Amino acid sequence: MHSNFVQQSTLHAAIIMDGNGRWALARGLPRAAGHRAGVETVSRIVEAAPELGIGVLTLFAFSSDNWRRPSPEVDALMALLWVYLAKETPRCVENGIRMEIIGRRDRLEESLRRAIQRTEAATAHGRRLHLRMAIDYSARAAILAAAQETTPLSRESLSGALGPPVDLLIRTGGEQRLSDFLLWECAYAEFVFSRRMWPEYGADDLAWAVREFRGRQRRFGAVPQPTAKSHDAWLE
Ligand code: IPE
Ligand code: IPE
Ligand code: MG
Repeated sequence: MHSNFVQQSTLHAAIIMDGNGRWALARGLPRAAGHRAGVETVSRIVEAAPELGIGVLTLFAFSSDNWRRPSPEVDALMALLWVYLAKETPRCVENGIRMEIIGRRDRLEESLRRAIQRTEAATAHGRRLHLRMAIDYSARAAILAAAQETTPLSRESLSGALGPPVDLLIRTGGEQRLSDFLLWECAYAEFVFSRRMWPEYGADDLAWAVREFRGRQRRFGAVPQPTAKSHDAWLE
């Protein structure tokens, strides 16, 4: 259960990393250059997350609908994911980061599937941050698959099969939509939208989003308990 009005000390932040293509095109660069710059942002954000009290970080890297993009762009994205895993795995081990990939695996290249297995095995003991990278991910497909595999089917069992509830959902790039990301887990997420394109998003922006989150009152449908201070204020 949610502990109603107490802010959890470690939170689950999820980020829709959007705007790579527009960032590149605005500079006269190919979209793939935006994706390359976006990978550097991932490293910056992963490094900053634990110090901001983020215990679980889920990043949307490639949606199941992104297969609809031109194949050279899809190939570039898949190659970058492979390079990212190869490069970051030792750093994750060093920094206590457990990396998990969520989404379908059966449509990925064999070499990427192997890289995912290696990374997950090597980082399994990380406790400082649980980093979840969503690749070939669709929330509707994930809910459907979990419902088919879960017996008896209940709200709790389905929640358990899917993953931790999202506290803070961030989307960069100016759009304000979920694009089939973590639909169930975002039931009570706080949303923060940034106009900044992902390649330009930094640790300061993440810190701002977390401060914004901590300043919000989450009610989960209930009525807030008056705190001592607000109660006194009432009586005055
Ligand atoms: C996000 O940037 C990365 C992926 C979706 C893989 P986009 O590539 O969607 O960038 P825009 O939205 O076209 O600018
Ligand atoms: C969502 O971004 C997917 C990722 C960030 C990986 P898109 O750019 O694909 O979403 P839409 O098409 O604008 O909704
Ligand atoms: Mg986009």
